[in-house]
Amino acid sequence: MKNILITGGAGFIGSNFVRYLLQTDPDVRIINLDALTYAGSLENLRDLPDPDRHDFIRGDICDQQLVRRLLEEREIELVVHFAAESHVDRSILGPGEFIRTNIQGTFTLLEALRHYRRSSPGRDVHFHHISTDEVYGSLEKGEPAFTESTPLAPSSPYAASKAASDHLVRAYFQTYGLPVTITNCSNNYGPYQFPEKLIPLMILNARSGRALPIYGDGQQIRDWLYVEDHCQAIWKVIQRSRPGETYNVGGGNQPTNLEIVREICATLDELLPDSEYLPHFGLVEHVEDRPGHDRRYAVDISKITRELGWKPQTSLQQGLRDTVVWYLEHPDWIAGISAKGEYQSWVEENYQKRDRQ
Ligand code: NAD
Ligand code: DAU
Repeated sequence: MKNILITGGAGFIGSNFVRYLLQTDPDVRIINLDALTYAGSLENLRDLPDPDRHDFIRGDICDQQLVRRLLEEREIELVVHFAAESHVDRSILGPGEFIRTNIQGTFTLLEALRHYRRSSPGRDVHFHHISTDEVYGSLEKGEPAFTESTPLAPSSPYAASKAASDHLVRAYFQTYGLPVTITNCSNNYGPYQFPEKLIPLMILNARSGRALPIYGDGQQIRDWLYVEDHCQAIWKVIQRSRPGETYNVGGGNQPTNLEIVREICATLDELLPDSEYLPHFGLVEHVEDRPGHDRRYAVDISKITRELGWKPQTSLQQGLRDTVVWYLEHPDWIAGISAKGEYQSWVEENYQKRDRQ
């Protein structure tokens, strides 16, 4: 059995990765370290395949003693690092926690690995860092997509904290020779995404007849990837990449936010023909823009395709449809989030003061 420490495995992508890995590799044992912030939930880890190979530990990645103890006692061979504060709008309203978890937390993990290596020579723990395309900043229409050598130019406190963590990971490879790999991925969507992010927010609001808040003109462009495709890419990089390498991961599409919302609404119109809110797209409301809003992301995936043979399997149309169906079929999961109260206060804090346009 290979012992794998996954950080942030109760969040959106982390929980999908836990499920994917238990299904894909019978020889792994997962130790899942997650602080269960507002974004993490044990509800995301219900009905795991082969749950005996999954141990959940509630804890903070900034807790050096805890991380060191886990590395030693659980004889960890691989760390897959998802844990982060991940929402751009929250980083604008309160950047402090992003600096703590995303920078200090990554530093804590790297330091624990450096000490572990010194105290147990020959035990080289592979550290895989999950990062984002947002570290590269914003593109204008027509500019070429981000490659792995595009200079980092983050716009938001979230993106800046992720860029800092990428730099730290790279520095620990260059300076101490820690075996690290990094993936910089575009916007994910799919089951278990917390409904503060565009796609689940729009699905839930539209279904309930609430306004669909589009920041600014809605012409911003993202590159969307179905979460299971991201999980496959991560596992491929972990298994096949040389230490020190970075790979971009993306879905190869360029819709505007308004086009995404139009597609979601059309799917809801079709799946809920008796809804009192038809057509759902009529609920769109343009609101004050996000400060520092990146206009466009596009990711060049030629390196991972050429070197590791990965490319996305799920079309945007199919992935969006599956996602809408998943949210419609999981009212209990949604009720669990709404019941916490924290979600409602976030919605009020982020949207109530925004001017309608
Ligand atoms: P998420 O917000 O859904 O989940 C984050 C998880 O980390 C939660 O379970 C939370 O409880 C945990 N966590 C937060 N602070 C912690 C701490 N101090 N100690 C331990 N656990 C802590 O995030 P996500 O969307 O699943 O993103 C996961 C990773 O992927 C992040 O590193 C993010 O930057 C990166 N990423 C996300 C996307 C995307 O579109 N969501 C795209 C590219 C990269
Ligand atoms: O690119 C990868 C990144 O994608 C990840 O690193 C982040 O963790 C993830 O949150 C995501 O960041 P974005 O800011 O692109 O995602 P979000 O879902 O918040 O917004 C997507 C787009 O939709 C963006 O242009 C802002 C817009 N938007 C978002 C919300 C929540 C709206 O117009 N209205 C909204 O209410």
